[in-house]
Amino acid sequence: MKGIILAGGKGTRLYPMTKVVSKQLLALYDKPMIYYPLSILMLADIKDILIISTPKDLPIYRELLGDGSKLGIHFEYVVQNEPRGLADAFILGKEFIGNDSVCLILGDNVFYGQGMTDLLNNAKKQNNGATIFGVPVKNPKAFGVVEFDENYNVLSIEEKPEVPKSNFAVPGLYFYDNDVVEIAENVKPSARGEIEITSVNNEYLKKGNLKVELMRRGIAWLDTGTPQNMLKASSFIEEIQEMQGTYIACLEEIAWRRGFITDDELITLGEELKQTEYGQYILNLVKNERRIK
Ligand code: G1P
Repeated sequence: MKGIILAGGKGTRLYPMTKVVSKQLLALYDKPMIYYPLSILMLADIKDILIISTPKDLPIYRELLGDGSKLGIHFEYVVQNEPRGLADAFILGKEFIGNDSVCLILGDNVFYGQGMTDLLNNAKKQNNGATIFGVPVKNPKAFGVVEFDENYNVLSIEEKPEVPKSNFAVPGLYFYDNDVVEIAENVKPSARGEIEITSVNNEYLKKGNLKVELMRRGIAWLDTGTPQNMLKASSFIEEIQEMQGTYIACLEEIAWRRGFITDDELITLGEELKQTEYGQYILNLVKNERRIK
């Protein structure tokens, strides 16, 4: 399975903070926002990852993440000239995806929780169709929203409905079989001129090939849509890291625990950052031999 991180967009809703810096490069507490979705792909054992961003920002992502070899994975980069919608990721990523299945995650979506790895593994195991998720939220209007019947069968997905038919929003994490490329190529732009991921999902639904897994208590999907929400997300991350002494989205740690890199390679990465708590955390991992796979 291939992975795609879409980190495009103009970030206008966060101006002036994002006037010259891409939203997904901004910090959530102690690391760039893109680390969080990237950590999710790594937890799903996805090692071939395409990063899509604007012509201006893509070189910065490349500088930050390189070719991935330091983490024992592989990054490729593709430019999105105009924000044409989320489904554009599959058109821009057509060659990269090849004949594979693909997981798309949005560069500003942060997930954290105990059951996350199981959810990812289950979604990855489906060979056919699409798996998306539903998370209860207070303001479903801002998202794609799932409509269910009384037995939780999915009836439709609506993009930012005026009158939401449930409080289950669709987060920016999607698993698809290879049909997604052709489906995306045939999606008609919506009223806001975008080729919507929601249209792709409805296409799968029409074919009886859409699975919606509910994320309930125990998994946090953190909103990063406003400055206030970014601050809250940062505080949440700081709190967990301080209280538990374990980091959220420490890419070096995940690469090591997953066996993508060796103890020595982890130490080298820790040494590069050793003047920070982040670097010390990495160095202590090996020292303490806290290797729980
Ligand atoms: C996009 C999708 C929406 C989804 C959301 C998750 O919205 O269109 O269906 O619920 O991401 O973050 P946008 O970020 O474009 O407003």
